[in-house]
Amino acid sequence: MVVSASAPGKLILFGEHAVVFGEPALSVAINLRIIIEVSPSDRNELDGMPLTRGRHPYLEATLRRAQSDQPISLSIRSEIPQASGMGSSAAVTSSLLACLQALKGSLDRESIARIAFEVEYEVQGRASPIDTTTATHGGGILLLREKGEDFLWEIEKGDSVWFLHGCSLPEMTLVVGSTGLEAATGPLVAGVKALFEREEAARRAIRRIGEISLEGMDALRHRDLSLAGKLMGENHDLLNSLEVGHPMLEEFVQASLPYSYGAKMTGAGGGGSMIALTDRPNRVKEAIEACGGEAFIVTTEPKGVVLEPSI
Ligand code: MEV
Repeated sequence: MVVSASAPGKLILFGEHAVVFGEPALSVAINLRIIIEVSPSDRNELDGMPLTRGRHPYLEATLRRAQSDQPISLSIRSEIPQASGMGSSAAVTSSLLACLQALKGSLDRESIARIAFEVEYEVQGRASPIDTTTATHGGGILLLREKGEDFLWEIEKGDSVWFLHGCSLPEMTLVVGSTGLEAATGPLVAGVKALFEREEAARRAIRRIGEISLEGMDALRHRDLSLAGKLMGENHDLLNSLEVGHPMLEEFVQASLPYSYGAKMTGAGGGGSMIALTDRPNRVKEAIEACGGEAFIVTTEPKGVVLEPSI
């Protein structure tokens, strides 16, 4: 029996890093996906080669945590660049979990979101459930400190608890500028934690980012793109103050601004990607490419993890 599933990438519009400390954040699934195909085998393998913890930490942790006793052979097709801030690891983990569930019966998105979060937390050393719930559920996702409208599920870890909500947002076109520099999320998250423990200014920045997420969501819902863009800029500056910026991200943000409502880094930073909110996506794409970046024009995607016909 061969099964296949896909899950979308994501962009964090507001609130990355601060969300790890329980602050509100807003993300959206995008129309770039990862597709995984799985079939029963006599050992766990990827493209015919054995799976190892060292080389495939997310896949290994997913198989272990899903407690699947059936070894599998898997292949992955991806439209999402790796370690780019676009949620490729969360999309891999949730689509693999969907395949494993499909081998046994039916799909349960909430349990996929929970296990996928545990996998990210384990591999990164610390994480929020924003990436994994966005890949699993699709559409807009809002993380809050308490239960609100369109509540999906709550996820707890240590002394943190996140309340995850669906969030209907207007359809948006975003341009993603990728530095091509792969930056692992774990060490960046650990760096922000160290700053948070050491400096009052970092704690203030993280609290302000949480407020910006809520103000940004409101602005987007009221289609006030100028205000949303301004808030993106403020969020970007605060992320720089948390030392997760990169000179290339700065260059792409500056190059995008003349044709955008606003621009900011997205995801863990330290390389990875930035986003621009614009109604002139081709101009922004050209501007980023002129600085040596790779640019993608993406739209928001309502569809989360789904089973697919086999590849
Ligand atoms: C990574 O896409 C987003 C971070 O906030 C980490 C996390 O929330 O797990 C940097």
